Amino acid sequence: MEKIPFLQPNPAKLSESLGALRKIEQSHIISNYGPFNTEFEQRIGQMMFGGVGACLTVCNATAGLMLAIQRCAVDAPQPVRYALMPSFTFAATAHAAIWAGLTPLFCDIDEDSWLPSERSERALLDQFGSQISVVVPYATFGNVIDLARYHRLASEYGVGVVIDAAASLGAVADDGRAFGLGCTYPLVFSMHATKAFATAEAGLVYCADADVLKDLRTMANFGLDEFRTTIMPGLNAKLNEIVALMALLKLGDFDACTAHRATMARFYRQQLPELTFQRLYGQQHAYMFVSALLPEGLAGRRTQIVQRLAHEGIELRTYFSPHLAEHPYFHRRAVSGDLSVTNRIAPRFISLPLSDFITFEQVKTVCSALRRALS
Ligand SMILES: Cc1ncc(COP(=O)(O)O)c(C=O)c1O
Repeated sequence: MEKIPFLQPNPAKLSESLGALRKIEQSHIISNYGPFNTEFEQRIGQMMFGGVGACLTVCNATAGLMLAIQRCAVDAPQPVRYALMPSFTFAATAHAAIWAGLTPLFCDIDEDSWLPSERSERALLDQFGSQISVVVPYATFGNVIDLARYHRLASEYGVGVVIDAAASLGAVADDGRAFGLGCTYPLVFSMHATKAFATAEAGLVYCADADVLKDLRTMANFGLDEFRTTIMPGLNAKLNEIVALMALLKLGDFDACTAHRATMARFYRQQLPELTFQRLYGQQHAYMFVSALLPEGLAGRRTQIVQRLAHEGIELRTYFSPHLAEHPYFHRRAVSGDLSVTNRIAPRFISLPLSDFITFEQVKTVCSALRRALS
């Protein structure tokens, strides 16, 4: 029986880049914003963001979120307690807020795009007012979000904004430009092995405001200034040279990988008209996997469906269900607004296999197995 894994990481092959590895060894610069890291930051800044704004690598996106959220929390007037984010996201975002001393405040999502709901965000901003320090929308599953809306919310409510763009590196907005380009709030992308832009563990922060990025670079290096005195909150979030090299090499095949993933995602949609897929914004989507909603009556059978496909060698997941408000730790540590849409649709989510290697035949195999399980 052929096995179809949920994901298959495809980072650059270091074994084929021994010359570059030797260069790192000979330079004796292994970390601390070394030459490969600087080259990667500059090249991705040019290639993806056309040289507008700047990029900062971090050791993973969780650390990037911690820094960016902490930067909003630190200078905020007291009492400020909350980081507003959707409950329909990954644990990393809520953890990052808690590490920054804030309480996650969960908002609802839109039924069709699964993005944070503006109505829900505004209701909570009206209710909690200046107790909210930062809004952290998630660009759900690599979708593009309306960044102008967050500029409006920031000026209307005086809150900070950090965009959790963990799965969105490579996404292209409606205007044909990279998602995030020109945004003066930081966007935090993940380059984890499981993401489309695969390395090992890494993240990238993009921001069009050079001062914000300068702060974050300082914070990622223990909050130290050029005189090695601590001027800001900090931690060690620097990316080492070996993973920076992996990131640099990934630039070589990333466009082809993104295109393959998008083709396969379209094929899933064609093959499975009985499922509800995400409403997409933007010209190009950065797919990590393909999410869909089971037909309404079948939510109760989801575990059985996932198990049945597992018996056939096909791995499915159910991101992000349970959603964060349902996790025991966040249930104790967070506050939730009205989550009616999230609660209603989360039990229907399934995530279908995707990778740079998946073939049309394999997608067909997944779809036929799923169709049999649904009937
Ligand atoms: C929504 C979201 N935010 C943040 C992260 C954290 O990314 P990383 O694994 O690079 O720390 C992830 C990871 O998958 C994620 O899905």
